[in-house]
Amino acid sequence: MRSKVTIVGAGNVGATAAQRIFDRGYADVVLVDIVDGLPQGKALDMLESGPILGSDAQILGTNTYEETADSDVVVVTSGIARKPGMSRDDLLLTNQKIVSSVVSETSKYSPDSVHVIVTNPLDAMAQQALKVSGFPSERVVGMAGILDTARYRSFLAQELNVSVDSVSAYVLGGHGDTMVPVVESTNVAGTPVSQLIEPERLEEIVQRARDGGAEIVNLLKTGSAYYAPSASIVQMVEAILFDKKEILPCTAYLQGHYGINNLYVGVPVKLGSGGAEEIVELKLNEEEHSELKRSAEAVQELIDVMAQAE
Ligand code: NAI
Ligand code: 2OP
Repeated sequence: MRSKVTIVGAGNVGATAAQRIFDRGYADVVLVDIVDGLPQGKALDMLESGPILGSDAQILGTNTYEETADSDVVVVTSGIARKPGMSRDDLLLTNQKIVSSVVSETSKYSPDSVHVIVTNPLDAMAQQALKVSGFPSERVVGMAGILDTARYRSFLAQELNVSVDSVSAYVLGGHGDTMVPVVESTNVAGTPVSQLIEPERLEEIVQRARDGGAEIVNLLKTGSAYYAPSASIVQMVEAILFDKKEILPCTAYLQGHYGINNLYVGVPVKLGSGGAEEIVELKLNEEEHSELKRSAEAVQELIDVMAQAE
């Protein structure tokens, strides 16, 4: 029997993630959106690509939640996306309501699922999803670190003219301006990146990775990135469905890890069928550690604003 993945939000990120999963054929997909006809039309269009691509998976679009029942993984992408001049935090209160209403349904219909939260501001939305679902924290995990790390690795690979596969790196912290690319543990086939790139140039690359989302928003003008985000979602979905126990940078609920308590922040986690099965504590230098704390404080501020709005 194929696994079942529900994706809520049939916009740019959700539909592209659905397409990537459907194309691979290992899971049936239910695509949900509030707009009548949108998920149905996109799902039908994808289904009709099956004979060409060789996918026997089923894909269904709907505006209700009955069809999502007993999903193994639920991906939440519903919400508004930013436009030029907006930060991810500007989306907070609108997306808080959307994520709350969606997760109250998805957690009811798929009580044993792992939820992958994508809607921004990501860390705050993961925290909201945990609260609404009542799930154990390892089964609510957020996507951002894979994307932020992929941007950082892409720029480093271009700079050094090497394969992206040869660049190992982690970007930690909240998915926002305070994210923390861990330069000390970034290496190219074992050589520390600080030995390969001058400090000023390295700082420019780090900053470009931090601003990676805004760079694309400014180019697109009408929305935000979705190709790399959807690829990041699929890496997480695969790690969960195939119980890969892959260590990936994800947004997870910290309870004392890195000295941070009761808060979603991006860290390396072991991702398997149980969700974020283990939080991996990297050795950070003092500066990285205080940057991570600052990033956590920025997430906490958003949590406080959401609490006041409730
Ligand atoms: P989009 O506007 O293309 O799609 C969002 C979809 O959500 C729309 O189709 C909309 O109708 C639907 N929606 C809104 N309210 C809903 C509800 N109550 N129930 C079901 N569906 C609902 O936006 P896009 O580009 O797909 O981005 C989606 C979200 O993901 C945004 O918040 C964006 O900021 C975030 N994002 C997060 C990333 C990350 O790294 N965590 C990366 C990229 C995007
Ligand atoms: C990004 O980083 C918008 O969060 C999204 O592209």
